[in-house]
Amino acid sequence: MKKVNSIFVETGTHNCKNARGKVGEYTEVHTIDINKKRSENCGTPVNAHTGQSPDVLKQILVDVNKPADFYLDAHADIIPGNQADGYDRAAPGSSVIQGKTSMDELMPLLPELHVIREHNKQIPGNYVCIDDLRCWDAEASSHKAKCPATQLWHDAGISTKSIIATLGDQVNDYNIVGDRLCVRLV
Ligand SMILES: C[S@@+](CC[C@H](N)C(=O)[O-])C[C@H]1O[C@@H](n2cnc3c(N)ncnc32)[C@H](O)[C@@H]1O
Repeated sequence: MKKVNSIFVETGTHNCKNARGKVGEYTEVHTIDINKKRSENCGTPVNAHTGQSPDVLKQILVDVNKPADFYLDAHADIIPGNQADGYDRAAPGSSVIQGKTSMDELMPLLPELHVIREHNKQIPGNYVCIDDLRCWDAEASSHKAKCPATQLWHDAGISTKSIIATLGDQVNDYNIVGDRLCVRLV
């Protein structure tokens, strides 16, 4: 992801490799995961937070007084292969297995964007990249691997149109970079 600002905020920590890789490049690195074990993968100086991503975003942004680069990658864990019930199976330890089964908990992207939109009204100039474009617009993505659970993205109402509509009047412009949709806010 292109670096635009000096603060990095990720949703979806997983093994923390991505967030740890941003140390040095950014002056401040935050990552959020619903699964506490994943937050424990980080260590200092990464600021690892545990909880439902839109709620935690709202809390941490109170103290962020410069524009940030957001990398939005929190979604239910899925194992490719079993589409029998419409969704692929959840990986052990995932948000699904933990009983977090409301759509906002499984796929928190649109609620995250609401929080970032409101934050951008106070602190403008944020940059937002959303991973897994192939899961909602396979043709636009240059990533040719198949998405393991397109139905989940579809049922969560995720599309380029809904993303841009959610960010609303805070959008300056957007473009596609590999398997990501990146949006520059005003
Ligand atoms: C695809 S992984 C993140 C990968 C990581 N960003 C990377 O680049 O390596 C998705 C992560 O999102 C987390 N997650 C799922 N639902 C969440 C939610 N509602 N809030 C916060 N994290 C969530 C999962 O526990 C999982 O670790």
